[in-house]
Amino acid sequence: MLGIETSCDETGVALVDNGKVIAANVATQQVHSRWGGVVPELASRLHQVTLAKMVNEILEDTGWKFSDLEGVAVTRGPGLIGALLVGVSYAKGLAVGLDIPFKGVNHLEGHLWAAVAAGEDVPFPTLALLVSGGHTELIQIDKFEKYRFLGGTLDDAAGEAFDKVGGLLGIPYPAGPEFARMADEGNASFIDFPVADTKRPLDFSFSGLKTAASREIAKLKDRGNTEWQKDIAASYQKAAIKQITIRLKSALKNYKYEGLLLAGGVAANKKLRAEVDKITAKNRVKLIIPPVEWCTDNGAMIAYLGERLLEEHGGDSLDIETDPNLQLVWHEEFS
Ligand code: KG4
Ligand code: ZN
Repeated sequence: MLGIETSCDETGVALVDNGKVIAANVATQQVHSRWGGVVPELASRLHQVTLAKMVNEILEDTGWKFSDLEGVAVTRGPGLIGALLVGVSYAKGLAVGLDIPFKGVNHLEGHLWAAVAAGEDVPFPTLALLVSGGHTELIQIDKFEKYRFLGGTLDDAAGEAFDKVGGLLGIPYPAGPEFARMADEGNASFIDFPVADTKRPLDFSFSGLKTAASREIAKLKDRGNTEWQKDIAASYQKAAIKQITIRLKSALKNYKYEGLLLAGGVAANKKLRAEVDKITAKNRVKLIIPPVEWCTDNGAMIAYLGERLLEEHGGDSLDIETDPNLQLVWHEEFS
């Protein structure tokens, strides 16, 4: 199975054979950093230039031929419509040309299975936290394809808030990784940022925290030395992670989970990983996190999930739509 990911600013390709990832490559588009966010038009155009080349390269590197492919899986949403269309159109063309099945994959569901693609086992039921640039959701996974929605963000996604506050601190987009490095060197007690209360205890809200941080930055920005930037980063990171861990602890109290799974770009955050590690040890649940490079967008999670879905349900019709707002299908909603 060939897997393709082009939902945002990463072009990802991967080959999977019987649940095993044979090879995976990701190219991150650098052009967006100077604009402070992803420019959709540029993203689509770059995928167009990069994707076919990357597929040829991964086949050459592994010694596979196009004729060895038994299926092609691609992210069909959610994401930027133009960027998605590049991947989906390429995949449909390949499926027709090679006369192999085509499978459209939900990007969010892909993230949920990234750790398993990397070789981890997930016991059920598992509590999953999906934290990325576009999503912050707590999900109960009862088994493969059975997801229950427990809570989500009421405003900004965790990664989006890191990116926006990072931007105010002068960090180019996407700010997350550099933000975390700055935070490691700062004093997390510099400012005691508030942790949001939400009406539903498993929902999230990052906009108040973001506004509080931007006010502090406005006050400090004329100060000569830059120590305060590290301190703000550390204080912000502490409050953002505290909000997440409070929700995780209370979800673990509500239900008997066997595992806790982190997924999405923010799951690459070392401090978050360390805090969640402590929680799982205390609650005696298994911690499941993908390797750092598979927390962010990649083709391996799409290839892995695509192969599994193809086995379960067969291929999709070539009429299937690309959907920028594609949602996970909920098994049952908790109120
Ligand atoms: O999953 P992903 O690659 O793309 C989406 O599907 O959104 O996540 C990207 C997000 C960005 O907001 C980025 O700043 C954030 O993940 N991120 C981090 C870290 N690494 C990436 N946020 C905090 N700490 C990190 N170490
Ligand atoms: Zn993603």
